[in-house]
Amino acid sequence: MNRIIFGDSQNMHELDDKSVHLVVGSPSYYNAPFDTPGLFHDYDQFLNIMGNVTREVKRVLDDGRIAAYVVDDITVDGETFPIVADMTRLFRREGFKYRGKITWKKPNGYCRISRRSGVLVQHPYPMYPHFDNLTETILLMQNGNFDYKKVPQELKESSRVNLEEWLGKHWHLSVWEITNVLPAKNRLETGIAAYPEEIPYRLTKLFSYKNETVLDPFMGSGSTLKVAVQLGRNAVGYDIDVELLETVKEKLGINRNGLSCGSFDIAIRNDAKHLRTQLRRKVEASRRRYATGLMRAKEENSPRHPSSRTTTW
Ligand SMILES: C[S@@+](CC[C@H](N)C(=O)[O-])C[C@H]1O[C@@H](n2cnc3c(N)ncnc32)[C@H](O)[C@@H]1O
Repeated sequence: MNRIIFGDSQNMHELDDKSVHLVVGSPSYYNAPFDTPGLFHDYDQFLNIMGNVTREVKRVLDDGRIAAYVVDDITVDGETFPIVADMTRLFRREGFKYRGKITWKKPNGYCRISRRSGVLVQHPYPMYPHFDNLTETILLMQNGNFDYKKVPQELKESSRVNLEEWLGKHWHLSVWEITNVLPAKNRLETGIAAYPEEIPYRLTKLFSYKNETVLDPFMGSGSTLKVAVQLGRNAVGYDIDVELLETVKEKLGINRNGLSCGSFDIAIRNDAKHLRTQLRRKVEASRRRYATGLMRAKEENSPRHPSSRTTTW
């Protein structure tokens, strides 16, 4: 059974203990300026929520199985937050083993925040370097030891890893060179920091068997679910933002006749939010406050309104 649940993945009560065989997902990167500005009050709140989701992931994931998170450190208002390290710590606190990481490298021509390296161009001196980020981390955490003997040989054979992909396409390397989802106009994933389907494609083939269940606790546009179903797995996705419903339906082909991606049970819980609208309003309000502040400052500094500040010499 494939399921989509709009609600907060800090609570995944719809899923039984140990009923999931692989988790693939990518949380919001704290208050990422390009994605979720102002979503969290502060970094501690972000870590607290991520910790609660991790606890639920631990509960629903079967023994020895993998949780793969695409994450990266993020700079917000000039401060860089060590999300990769902190997320690793949260998983380890819940009893996961660190299985390792893969570095996802985007093409050299891609730079999300190219102004960062520009600082040194303006000030070509030591201590000014800031680096343009071309990579993200795919964190692999394991829920204890996996019992390889438990898997029937027939299932192993039907889920066999293609060695042409493993060796020929360099999946065996710890650096995966994959083009990111390009910011094309009118693309389906507009406003969603979606990852390329190649990432869940590789992870699903490498860490799950046919007919098993893949969970994405941060579904976004539904990339993980689409790939999972195409690869003969069951898929479950959670997202807090009910405004993504139509995007997800479109990606999974749910609107079309003869569902192209299997059938899905869709539930909207009462803790789902209209997140994108809320964030847009927050950004607009802070822009208005900024503009009003600027106007006031201009007025106060103009000769008609001399500043009331007194200076003692
Ligand atoms: C980086 S996006 C995921 C994009 C997705 N991998 C894709 O390819 O489209 C992160 C998603 O997590 C969702 N999210 C953030 N906090 C959540 C929570 N507590 N519960 C469920 N979803 C959450 C956001 O609404 C957002 O859509």
